[in-house]
Amino acid sequence: MTRLAGKCALITGAARGIGRAFAEAYIREGARVAIADIDLDRAQATAADIGAVAVHMDVSDTASITAGVADAVERLGQIDILINNAAIFTAAPIAEITEDDYARCFDINVKGTLFTLQAVARDMIARGEGGKIINMASQAGRRGEPLVGVYCATKAAVISLTQSAGLNLIEHGINVNAIAPGVVDGEHWDGVDAFFAKYENKAPGQKKREVGQAVPFGRMGVAEDLTGMAVFLASAEADYIVSQCFNVDGGQWMS
Ligand SMILES: NC(=O)c1ccc[n+]([C@@H]2O[C@H](COP(=O)([O-])OP(=O)(O)OC[C@H]3O[C@@H](n4cnc5c(N)ncnc54)[C@H](O)[C@@H]3O)[C@@H](O)[C@H]2O)c1
Repeated sequence: MTRLAGKCALITGAARGIGRAFAEAYIREGARVAIADIDLDRAQATAADIGAVAVHMDVSDTASITAGVADAVERLGQIDILINNAAIFTAAPIAEITEDDYARCFDINVKGTLFTLQAVARDMIARGEGGKIINMASQAGRRGEPLVGVYCATKAAVISLTQSAGLNLIEHGINVNAIAPGVVDGEHWDGVDAFFAKYENKAPGQKKREVGQAVPFGRMGVAEDLTGMAVFLASAEADYIVSQCFNVDGGQWMS
């Protein structure tokens, strides 16, 4: 299928994991894709593997966002679709959260989402052809968790920013929506598992097994479980969808 034929997409944090799966799915649907990542070596290797282009971007740094978006526009010609996918995870009991950890997580997950969205939206507004922006939220943004206060707060902020940006930008034909995954296996969750091994005194891999068993669908997600929603939200079929956050989580959260 070629539901995204002729479209150009910028996907942050797509050197690996869910972002990489999005890039592959968009290419299958006919789009050209720029992978923007702080890990340029891995972004270049992924881009070479799947037929994308790689740009360096640290989404916590507005100068780097500006340069990365300009690089992507130059190499693709335009940006019709943005996925704000780059994020980091952190966990700690409330009494142990550090200011540095808080600042890093908010800088990447929230500031990065807002200012990448802003840079791409400015370009879309100037071109006057609209566009699609998808922010990666999480079920962690739907409710708090005892050991995940900072990350949960960043994802709640992403849901809120999606609502406001969607309302503000639809007059320019720019649809802003979000996807809230549940638990998706991969390198991200290897890190999450390690946090829970430390704070809940679990064996490596135990938390993954427990969360997988708790998913109504019967297993953890994999990155490819999310690509259908990402393609749909980037396509013309989603033109009338504004400011929404869609759970793609095997039935874990209902809203
Ligand atoms: N994996 C899950 O279970 C899960 C669940 C809910 C939401 N999410 C969200 O989905 C998105 C993708 O998750 P994932 O599992 O693929 O994560 P991941 O950790 O595997 O990949 C994140 C990517 O972001 C890049 N990155 C990190 N900091 C960056 C920065 N400052 N600038 C640019 N790039 C940066 C990393 O190099 C990496 O390539 C994230 O927004 C995450 O919060 C994931």
